[in-house]
Amino acid sequence: MQKLVAIVLSLAVLQAAEAKDLRSVSEPKIPSACTSLSGSGKDETSAIQKALSSCAKGKAVRLASGTFISGPLTIPSGVGLWVDSGATLKASTTPKDFDEGKNTCGTLDNDGKGCKPFIYIKSATGSGIYGKGTIDGQGGQTMTGKGETWWKLAADAKSKNKKQNAPRLIQIENSKDITLYLITLKNSPNFHVASKSTNGFTAWGVTINTPGTARNTDGIDPMGSQNITIAHCNIATGDDNVAIKAGNAPTKYVSILNNKFGVGHGMSIGSEVNDGVSDVTVTTLTLDGTTNGLRIKSDKSRGGLVTGVTYTDVCMHNVKNPIVLDTQYSKASGSHIPTFKGITFNNVKVLTAGTYTFDGISDSNPVEATLTNVHIKSGSKWVATHAKISGKYAEDASGSSC
Ligand SMILES: *[C@@H]1O[C@H](CO)[C@@H](O)[C@H](O)[C@H]1NC(C)=O
Repeated sequence: MQKLVAIVLSLAVLQAAEAKDLRSVSEPKIPSACTSLSGSGKDETSAIQKALSSCAKGKAVRLASGTFISGPLTIPSGVGLWVDSGATLKASTTPKDFDEGKNTCGTLDNDGKGCKPFIYIKSATGSGIYGKGTIDGQGGQTMTGKGETWWKLAADAKSKNKKQNAPRLIQIENSKDITLYLITLKNSPNFHVASKSTNGFTAWGVTINTPGTARNTDGIDPMGSQNITIAHCNIATGDDNVAIKAGNAPTKYVSILNNKFGVGHGMSIGSEVNDGVSDVTVTTLTLDGTTNGLRIKSDKSRGGLVTGVTYTDVCMHNVKNPIVLDTQYSKASGSHIPTFKGITFNNVKVLTAGTYTFDGISDSNPVEATLTNVHIKSGSKWVATHAKISGKYAEDASGSSC
């Protein structure tokens, strides 16, 4: 009995040591329904919005079955949107439906701010999106009246050095205790989930499944936010699977636990870290087929302090750049000097050869990292400039899958 108590206690301590989110987070529950709707395959924006706006706090609008097409929706404070298994909520392909008022949504300009998000959660407490159904942004569909897809527009923006005006799938802002649970998100025209200036955000059991070629389709981006948990998610997409940013406020107390990443640009911090990123744990992560693995990126135009970041129990396969600490991600100039220190890698195993980069700003401001039990594949390239690395790596990784 005493032994059992000791084991249970040590497990509890281990759990506590793993999490950096200061809240104690457990598996969310789907709220009960205030009303149930069936989809007709036609535009149902006003029916869904009306149901959301009149739903009691603590309850959820249940999309029970069928296909719903909709323009922008706002989820009120305390209310849930429950997309049940068998139901699909698709974003309208008409740019005008999302236009912010300047008739630029679906076009290129220098600013890229012309579209509303598909689902907006603003100044809310305790709202969420739940269920085993699917939210489809239709980014690969031809925009009505435009003759090209949202993703082609994003590709054009790159070749023309412009910005695309395309809706994000889910935008959370100035909110508290927001939950995404079990939902499948796919084909966003732009980022899938951005949580900005939000304290308390949980994504649990979420699947993101979008082609690797769809430009700027980040998976989940916490920005200037605190008390974040991303757990038991499967994320494959065309840009960063997760990107932690801090361009307008610090981001800290972040737990990224038990996730699997497929195609994408990896587990990223940056590029905007002006206000600092700290107290981040990434524990039990598998990456298969991402371009980057564990990456912290910034430059002199948007750098800051990134510290207290721990990666534990990470396995990678087919990852080109398994570890990247890059303070010179672009040549942009400025006085926001990136400083990356207190970055720890524990039990990291990389099964295929790749390039490792540790690139600090200068010898007086090096990147500082600690390696414990890091096993990489022989034939890998290791580049360290302006770097203070404690611990060692071994070139002895073997096995063909994580
Ligand atoms: C983070 O969570 C802790 C514990 O619940 C709470 O005390 C703290 O106020 C939260 N931080 C913010 C910025 O909301």
